Amino acid sequence: MTTGIESILVENRVFMPPEDLVKHANISGMDGYRALCDEANRDPNAFWARLARENLVWTKPFTQVLDESNAPFYKWYPDGELNASANCLDKHLGTPTENLTAIIFEADDGQVTRVTYKALHARVCQFANAIKGLGHKKGERAIIYMPMSIEAVVAMQACARLGIIHSVVFGGFSSKSIHERAVDVGATLMITADAQLRGSKTIALKDAVDEALAMGGCEAVTHVITYKRAGTAVQWHEGRDLWWHDVIAGQSSDCPPVSVNADHPLFILYTSGSTGKPKGVQHATGGFLLWSLMTMRWTFDAKPDDVFWCTADVGWVTGHSYVTYGPLAAGVTQVVFEGVPTYPNAGRFWSMIEQHKVTVFYTAPTAIRSLTKLAESDPTVHPDRYNLDSLRIIGSVGEPINPEAWVWYYKNVGHERCPVIDTWWQTETGAHMITPLPGVTPLKPGSCTLPLPGIDAAVVDEVGEEVERGKGGFLVIRRPWPSMICTIWGDPERFKKTYFPPELKGYYLAGDGAQRDKDDYFWIMGRIDDVLNVSGHRLGTMEVESALVAHPMVAEAAVVGRPDDTTGEAVVAFVVLNGAMPEGDQAIAVAKQLRDWVAKEIGPIAKPREIRFGENLPKTRSGKIMRRLLRVVAKGEPVTQDVSTLENPAILDQLSQAR
Ligand code: WTA
Repeated sequence: MTTGIESILVENRVFMPPEDLVKHANISGMDGYRALCDEANRDPNAFWARLARENLVWTKPFTQVLDESNAPFYKWYPDGELNASANCLDKHLGTPTENLTAIIFEADDGQVTRVTYKALHARVCQFANAIKGLGHKKGERAIIYMPMSIEAVVAMQACARLGIIHSVVFGGFSSKSIHERAVDVGATLMITADAQLRGSKTIALKDAVDEALAMGGCEAVTHVITYKRAGTAVQWHEGRDLWWHDVIAGQSSDCPPVSVNADHPLFILYTSGSTGKPKGVQHATGGFLLWSLMTMRWTFDAKPDDVFWCTADVGWVTGHSYVTYGPLAAGVTQVVFEGVPTYPNAGRFWSMIEQHKVTVFYTAPTAIRSLTKLAESDPTVHPDRYNLDSLRIIGSVGEPINPEAWVWYYKNVGHERCPVIDTWWQTETGAHMITPLPGVTPLKPGSCTLPLPGIDAAVVDEVGEEVERGKGGFLVIRRPWPSMICTIWGDPERFKKTYFPPELKGYYLAGDGAQRDKDDYFWIMGRIDDVLNVSGHRLGTMEVESALVAHPMVAEAAVVGRPDDTTGEAVVAFVVLNGAMPEGDQAIAVAKQLRDWVAKEIGPIAKPREIRFGENLPKTRSGKIMRRLLRVVAKGEPVTQDVSTLENPAILDQLSQAR
């Protein structure tokens, strides 16, 4: 059996972990790693039970580790009770951590605000008391649509404190996306801001929430709480709309955390899949929290004097695990940044690392690639110009990091003393799965190396048999793990079908192609489904196609990805219009109209880089669009494949010339 995934070129250089880290890291040396792996393999449940007992604070201890009776709907620590916010905040009270800075917030304009663990706890309690006072309670769903801010973390933590399930919508998504998610989760509460500031631009947020609510279908929403960030004018709906500063006024800074079952949903986060509709990935309180904390300690070697900075927005899973929950549970100081890496110039990241003495830095390959380009053309924003000596670990996430970007990052940011920690994981996995450990793993640029202890990752063929080393196949996880997706909100059938296809022996199917080398290292080869990765953001081709065909001018559309040096992949859309095919200036104008339309339907990140018009799309005789051929055309390469099964082979020439 083969999966059709071919092998890729493997980079051969190996970089050893720094001596100092090998000696002092939380997992020290290959022996330390192997010992944990052996423990997990001998008795997985005992391993996961030990970690959960030693690292989480339980209000009611669990007696069962894993309930597999309704697989693949696994339940971890099902009879245990705890509260996520108490595990991030209350547990530090009365310890030296309470006076430690929890968050260093740097605003778009450079202004810095610090908040200690104790003060953060008080702010979370006040806000939780406010929403409790409005009548919201455990089990309800809240949509959070906020800029990067201390308040965004407070809003998420306050929901967790009350057992309210949050669903964060990335601030770059459209009102239509908010609407879709609010309807799907049946939201009763929305938390937003008047606007967000990014790169000196002011982008309205509350307006988008108003628009979403005006679309109908979310009548269950009784309150919209707005944090005043920019001071811009907003529409006001009396009785429904409240200001953040008004609702917290006079609230007590003590709010007892609501104890919930370990499998009570902590959040629902929407992510793109291979159909038009994003899926609501549901995560459980206990397992998610455990793994976001353990990976802080293991992957990032978190220590109390660290200054951790994950540049991800809380709208993505990385911002859940490594901004809102993991760093607080680990009790480190973290940087939260409102702005963009290129404002006021492309040295912003490096200057912030210098100013805040960041020790662990975690960002996306797309940011590294674009900052490389800018630094190489403008020496004043080159990392060389800044003192980056505080750094000890530098991480990467979101997409494969190409060896060139890896080496640039390692040399110019890490000064060849900080290991590059290339973490493979997904919204569905909750936290890191396959990653080097800073004091353990010899690094190979472009490989996410080895699975974490307890994670049974493998590369298999179409019937779930492990493939030989050096051969490509499907990346699967063979045993359940605590931070795994519990279900797709409201669509358990889709959950089963997507992630646990019957032919794969009950393994979790990640949706990525991969191969392993002779040292067992994993090399991720990209998605096997119709999901694109644009600047580290997941985007379904079907999602963009649905948006395009919703436009009255469009008859048909097919969307594919084209490799791109900076963004990883770029969206290319092939479009058939109703009526005549546009040419010249008219084609340019229509393309612009359609790009803006997609931005409005989904968000600016989904805008096609290129739109090509044709009289038709390449189809088989049974009417199936041949996306495989469109990918070749999008790259600007000649089609050398056999096209004899095509109904209309001539269309390929037309689309190739339609640049
Ligand atoms: C890709 C982001 C290679 C992969 C945390 C995965 C990666 C998808 C890496 C998940 C990596 C993420 N190397 N590919 N280190 N990290 N990916 O859900 O295709 O936004 O399936 O989660 O990003 O994206 P998501």
